[in-house]
Amino acid sequence: MALLMAIESSCDETAIAILRGVPGSAAEVLASEISSQIDLHREHGGVVPELASRNHSLRLRGLVEKALFDAKVTMADIDAFAATTGPGLASSLLIGSTAAKGMACALGKPFLGINHLEGHLLSPFIDRTAVPPHLALIVSGGHTLLLDVEAAGRYRKLGGTRDDAAGEAFDKVGKMLDLPYPGGPEIEKAARSGNPRAFDFPRSMLHDPHLDFSFSGLKTAVLYTLQREKGRVSVPDLAASFQQAVLDILVGKTLRAAEISRHRIVAISGGVSLNQALRDALQSACDKAGLEFVTAPRDFCADNAAMIAFAALLRHLAGESSPLDGDIHPNLPLVEPAIV
Ligand code: KG4
Ligand code: ZN
Repeated sequence: MALLMAIESSCDETAIAILRGVPGSAAEVLASEISSQIDLHREHGGVVPELASRNHSLRLRGLVEKALFDAKVTMADIDAFAATTGPGLASSLLIGSTAAKGMACALGKPFLGINHLEGHLLSPFIDRTAVPPHLALIVSGGHTLLLDVEAAGRYRKLGGTRDDAAGEAFDKVGKMLDLPYPGGPEIEKAARSGNPRAFDFPRSMLHDPHLDFSFSGLKTAVLYTLQREKGRVSVPDLAASFQQAVLDILVGKTLRAAEISRHRIVAISGGVSLNQALRDALQSACDKAGLEFVTAPRDFCADNAAMIAFAALLRHLAGESSPLDGDIHPNLPLVEPAIV
């Protein structure tokens, strides 16, 4: 049995989780606290790094106390402390990792530095007893990645974005439409009453043989449409047509990757996986292809610390730990590109 405390502070959410794990059983999330800074950054239209790091340090202590209270454990019960050490904003990563190292040091317990993307990647399996071989799609504000997962810790990159990440494209188009930050959930809301066939936007690289993505052409097409229509455009129609183009690209490439990698399980994670239209589209494509489709519980799709605690738990149970004098890594990749 192991009790893990993890901190996630790579961007604009300050999050703490406490998780109990027993080898061979599903992990139990005893506490998962998230303090969102969205309101703070909204007036700036995006994340302001200095505001983010200052607020992480202001909120952390209260969140740690609340997590211990909710989990009904004391600091002395924790077996290991973990934090996201990359990728992310340097000043934000430093706050969480320094706090976790401080607690580990004070209590004489191990520290584990965790890759934020590994947290997302493993999150669909947080309530399962094992991480099976599968094809993974990570879709977040900073990343769009297709990975061949052999087991926890054994990943091969199959494709990634060549320009904007899927979430970034949602956020930029949201900005063009004057929707509040972040644009992803707002576009999904607007799209519900729109016609996805109102505008025929490009599905860049969809039929190319490789498994990379590109969303900048789609974003530019939306911009040109807005300029051409000069305020006459229906926001729901444009949002629905843009969202449909993103979905077609993501679903098309993911199914091709599953076919190439011969996996029978497809898992998605990351903030964009909260999009119900995307979940539905992938579910029905997987049903048609006879594949199992797995998503993270909704609470663990966007940035959270339970996913970091889960990745740390698997590494801790495998006997791993990180040095207390290790650095943070703002551009940390999950895996080096495969040599082909
Ligand atoms: O995983 P996440 O919380 O943070 C990163 O690691 O980047 O993902 C945030 C991204 C943002 O771009 C946000 O707009 C997007 O996830 N997002 C959505 C939805 N909810 C969040 N995109 C589309 N539809 C949604 N419902
Ligand atoms: Zn994330």
